[in-house]
Amino acid sequence: MGHSDLSRLVEPDRVRKEVYTDPAIFEQEMARIHETVWIYCGHETQVPKPGDYYTVQIGRQPMILVRGKDGKVHVLYNRCPHRGNMICGDRKGNTGEQFRCSYHAWTFHHDGKLKNIPMMESGYAGSRLNKDSPELCVKRAARVESYRGFVFASLSSSGPSLKEFLGPSIVAFDDMCDRAPEGEVEVVPNCFRVIQHSNWKIFLENQLDALHPSVTHQSTGRAAHEVEKMLAKKAKKGEVPLSYHMLSAFATVTIDKWDNFQTINYPHGHCILTGYMGLRPQDPDTKAYDKIMIKAYGQKRFEEIVGVNIHHVLLYPGLSVQSPLQQLRAVRPLGVDKTLTEIWHFRLKGAPEAIYRRSLAYYNLVNSPATMVNADDLENFWKCHTGLASDGGDWVSFARHYGRDLESASGVVESAPSMGTSEAPMRNQMKAWARYMGAR
Ligand code: FES
Ligand SMILES: [Fe+2]
Repeated sequence: MGHSDLSRLVEPDRVRKEVYTDPAIFEQEMARIHETVWIYCGHETQVPKPGDYYTVQIGRQPMILVRGKDGKVHVLYNRCPHRGNMICGDRKGNTGEQFRCSYHAWTFHHDGKLKNIPMMESGYAGSRLNKDSPELCVKRAARVESYRGFVFASLSSSGPSLKEFLGPSIVAFDDMCDRAPEGEVEVVPNCFRVIQHSNWKIFLENQLDALHPSVTHQSTGRAAHEVEKMLAKKAKKGEVPLSYHMLSAFATVTIDKWDNFQTINYPHGHCILTGYMGLRPQDPDTKAYDKIMIKAYGQKRFEEIVGVNIHHVLLYPGLSVQSPLQQLRAVRPLGVDKTLTEIWHFRLKGAPEAIYRRSLAYYNLVNSPATMVNADDLENFWKCHTGLASDGGDWVSFARHYGRDLESASGVVESAPSMGTSEAPMRNQMKAWARYMGAR
């Protein structure tokens, strides 16, 4: 689709439905966005030993994240240079000393270089191929960079560096790692994988949608709050497990209170939602953790670290990070109406087990496919996509608090005070979308 056709689809405060439902637009998005910008591949601790690998989808490209013998992490196309067979059929594993294609036994080093072809001399003497031909190597991602253990790849050789791309949203990784007494996190194997029957942008728009939690998740929040109140009556003060609060907040933080949150929107479509759901309790587990942190960082730095006021960071076009609770969700579009999310959580290195249990509780209660919270969202996503595919209307509206956002000279857009439910994040994402797609 050409520039003028695309630009007719996106206005600052509304978007045509085809943006979500047209398969041709989906193909262009994959080429111009997902297969161009920095995409999260995985965490270095997913592949600790040489030969460890994980397969990962970048746009339409099947890729392999692999740890080499030299300790370096590589990202390769999952495609044999011989006749195109995928080199790894499993989702993860250890490939040993080398990759060996299951079709005709060509072998490759971990960095993709050809190692051996059976009977190469006799088979290829005098042909266009010899053992040094570059086309006999497994193709590598154009660029790979890692930040605090989080590995990204870009399939385009040009464009901003990873740090430039992330900009201030890099705080997602700093906040997560700084909360570890040892300054590092470790991935918890394995992840939940959920296939949503909806366009990938619907998931991203929901991440910082401060208007929806107290509506969509009201029934879950209320039920949890009822039990929490009952337990509080019976127990001594402060003895109700924190996990009830993780759910009851969806009901106790009523719709009007969400306006007190704030969204900060950055170039490239990234966005931060402030607020921390009041999760700085004073129970014995937290106090023990605080002590370890103060020992590791000193009082002043400790206060800075735990005082970071972030609920959620969205890294466009495919990553949602809840750093204070060590949660990460990666979005892998599979088709115009089919999206895979991988849901991970992390362990703070050097923190007590009880603090890890808290992160696990949030993972299971809020982000896992088994929770009512995630199920509430999934139902909306499917219903949104089905409604958008109908002839019942042409536009999706992002007009809430439009014209009231505060924009700085550097292009950072903040929702105005007491307007946290502004649809600024969606407008910002579509602005980035239009720019990547060449519509603006
Ligand atoms: S396709 Fe891989 S060795 Fe033939
Ligand atoms: Fe939700």
